[in-house]
Amino acid sequence: MIRVMDVHKSYTKEKETIKGVSFEVKKGEIFGLLGPNGAGKTTLMQMIATLMKPTSGIIVIDGLTADKDLLEIHKRIGFLTNEIKLDPMSTPNRLFDFFAELYDIPKEQLYQRRKESFERFGIGPFADKRINELSTGMKQKISIAISLIHNPPIIIFDEPTNGLDILTSKQVTDYLMDLKEQGHAIILSTHIFSVAEALCDEIAILVDGRIAAQGSVKELVDQTGAENFEKAFFKIYVDNHVE
Ligand SMILES: Nc1ncnc2c1ncn2[C@@H]1O[C@H](COP(=O)(O)OP(=O)(O)O)[C@@H](O)[C@H]1O
Ligand SMILES: [Mg+2]
Repeated sequence: MIRVMDVHKSYTKEKETIKGVSFEVKKGEIFGLLGPNGAGKTTLMQMIATLMKPTSGIIVIDGLTADKDLLEIHKRIGFLTNEIKLDPMSTPNRLFDFFAELYDIPKEQLYQRRKESFERFGIGPFADKRINELSTGMKQKISIAISLIHNPPIIIFDEPTNGLDILTSKQVTDYLMDLKEQGHAIILSTHIFSVAEALCDEIAILVDGRIAAQGSVKELVDQTGAENFEKAFFKIYVDNHVE
C-alpha cells in the first residue's frame, strides 16, 4: 500500500532532516514511527501525505506517485496532524458538511458516516456547539472523524493520542485497531511507548532522521537484549544519537 524508498529531506542547505528512509506498509498493518521530538516524524508523514515534496527519493501510495496522481492519492489518504486546527467558530455538524462536499460524498453516505462517528465518539450532544467551546479530547475526536470522512484505505496519524486523557486515548486506539481489522493500512507516529506497543505490528525507531532500528516490539527487544520495550528504545536511541 505504502512504499517509501530512500527518502531525504532538507529544509535548509546546512542540515538534512530526513537522511534516507525506506519502509513499506501493507493492508491491515499498523506501522509505528517512534522517536523523540525533532527526530523527523512529522516531516516524514507530511511527505507521505503528499503535503510536502522529498528532496530526493520516491514515495508510492497504492501504486501512485504525487507527481502524476495527486488527487487520486488525496482520495485514498486520511491525514491527521496537530498542526492543522479546526475552525474555532465552526461546529462539528458544519465541518462534516464542509468536508463531505470537499470529498464529494453522497448524502446517504454522509448520513451514515456522521451517525457512526458521532456514536463512536459521543459527538452527538456537541454537534452544534462551536469548536472553541469543546474540550481538547472532543476536538481531537472530531478531527479524527473528519480526517476519515471519505473512508480512505490509508491512514496517516501524527501523534493521534497526544495530550489526551486515558479514556479518550483508549477510544482512539480502539478505533485504530478496528480500522486495522477492516484492512486499512495505517502509519502512526508517537513518542508514547504503550501506544506503540499496544497497536503497532511493525515499529521504526527514528533517530536524527534515520531509522535506527525496525521490527516488531518483540524483535526490537530481542535485538537489543533489553528487559522490555522501553529499555530497548533507550538503548537504540543512545547507540544512534550523535548530534
Ligand atoms: N518548516 C520547517 N523548516 C525548517 N526546519 C523544520 C521545519 N519543520 C521541521 N523542521 C526541523 O526538522 C526537524 C524534524 O522536525 P519534525 O519532523 O517536526 O520532528 P518530529 O515530528 O519527530 O518531532 C526538527 O529539527 C525541526 O526543527
Ligand atoms: Mg512531530
